[in-house]
Amino acid sequence: MTETPNLVVFTPERLEKVNKIVARYPEGRQKSALLPVLHVAQEQWGWLSSEVMDYVAGILSIEPVEVYEVASFYTMYHLDPVGKHVIEYCRTGPCCLMGGEDVYGYLKQRLGIQVGQTTPDGLFTLKEVECLAACGWGPVFQIREKYYMNLTNQKVDEIISDLSI
Ligand code: FES
Repeated sequence: MTETPNLVVFTPERLEKVNKIVARYPEGRQKSALLPVLHVAQEQWGWLSSEVMDYVAGILSIEPVEVYEVASFYTMYHLDPVGKHVIEYCRTGPCCLMGGEDVYGYLKQRLGIQVGQTTPDGLFTLKEVECLAACGWGPVFQIREKYYMNLTNQKVDEIISDLSI
């Protein structure tokens, strides 16, 4: 897990990235850069603490509550510390009809955790999300940018084993 340091400041490289993102938008419209800037923040700190969100608000010259509203709306942002691998499984109807409930049940049993929890070794955090737009290949989960589709209990075992090394 990545802890939030006392001093919340982007690294020079990330600050440069943030400045480029903000520059895409007209003067006075920095708020439009909020989503990508939050991604950069999450990339650096692993999750979005209130200190980090306040810092982002300062950079974009908006109110902290505007950042909290957005960050808490989208499941892709983590508002608590997470493990090395965040497994986001699709809980929407089509995936469930294709066996998702059984596979996700097995996944929880395999990891020994429930949704919102992290394994004691800090390797895996489990989240439920809405449709991942891969309905024809369900059940499906996502870890960072990678999709794992047509999941079965056996595939879950293989994925977890591979990522546990
Ligand atoms: Fe699961 Fe769309 S319903 S990806």
